[in-house]
Amino acid sequence: MRVKTESELLTDLAINLPSPLEQISLPDSAAKGVEVWCKRDDLIHPIISGNKWRKLQQTLVSWYSSPPSHVISFGGPYSNHLHALAFCCAQLGIAFTAVVRGKYLQHQVLSPTLQDICHWQGQLHFVNKTDYQRRTDPAYIDELKNYLQADLCIPEGGSQSAALQGVAEIHKEVSYQQPELMFDLALLPVASGASLAGLVNKHQATSINTFVGVAVLKGKSYLEELVGQFLGQEQHTRWHIEHEYHHGGYAKTSADLLAFCEHYNANNSLQIEPVYSGKCFWAANDMIKTGKIRPGSRVLLLHTGGLQGNRAHKRINVSK
Ligand SMILES: Cc1ncc(COP(=O)(O)O)c(C=O)c1O
Repeated sequence: MRVKTESELLTDLAINLPSPLEQISLPDSAAKGVEVWCKRDDLIHPIISGNKWRKLQQTLVSWYSSPPSHVISFGGPYSNHLHALAFCCAQLGIAFTAVVRGKYLQHQVLSPTLQDICHWQGQLHFVNKTDYQRRTDPAYIDELKNYLQADLCIPEGGSQSAALQGVAEIHKEVSYQQPELMFDLALLPVASGASLAGLVNKHQATSINTFVGVAVLKGKSYLEELVGQFLGQEQHTRWHIEHEYHHGGYAKTSADLLAFCEHYNANNSLQIEPVYSGKCFWAANDMIKTGKIRPGSRVLLLHTGGLQGNRAHKRINVSK
């Protein structure tokens, strides 16, 4: 059988690359004289959007020469990663089981995310909190693979070293799309740290001076450690994480953040949600307002997608 190429994969999955790079405004950017651009990775694909595509790209390409037969991966009931991976597996004819955090959920109405996974013939395997905490333990992963008869496990969030190279592609696209522009800083949301590590990767020629992760969960030093582990020997000084913008923790929100997202969405075609992009956009605006980002700066916001997690009971339709 002829092995398909990467460009055939992009065509087969209808991936839209390079993602657009657009100048946008935030509520306080014009008054403070800060130029804001957004890398619209949310437009890469209606389902495999944002950092989901970036983190899975290398893995999906490798599946064209040696496809697994049954893949498992971990996530919560609204996981963007499980959603994207289930869709990819369905498109590529690979069996998929989502290992879902929350045994109690099996007796409840499924979230729209899990409903979609079932619609794409993915299986759901619910586990309790204690078991879920063992998701990186090789013995537990082997146990699950044996039990579910799977031959490959992808870590939660698609966050593995293979993910970094896909994220780093963003630099090439930005330099190609706006060769004249230098960005003082780039901001992106951080949960597992793989996307920030991929962007920081020091081998990439980049037009970005400093990389700022916006913690979407309470994780002072823990998140820095995760990014450091991904970077390994590639340590790099031009990055840090802002810890003041998680609004109470992972998937937690505040009335102010909700109002910010609603107001933003009502006035822009670009949409944000309160778990990832909303916290990142809020952080950028606050840093501009308070002078942490200096007047005259040029800022790049990475829209990492994830709008599906914000749905009411509605299915995303994808034309093939
Ligand atoms: C939409 C979205 N943005 C950002 C992140 C955080 O990325 P990372 O886990 O690579 O730090 C995630 C989680 O993977 C996500 O789903």
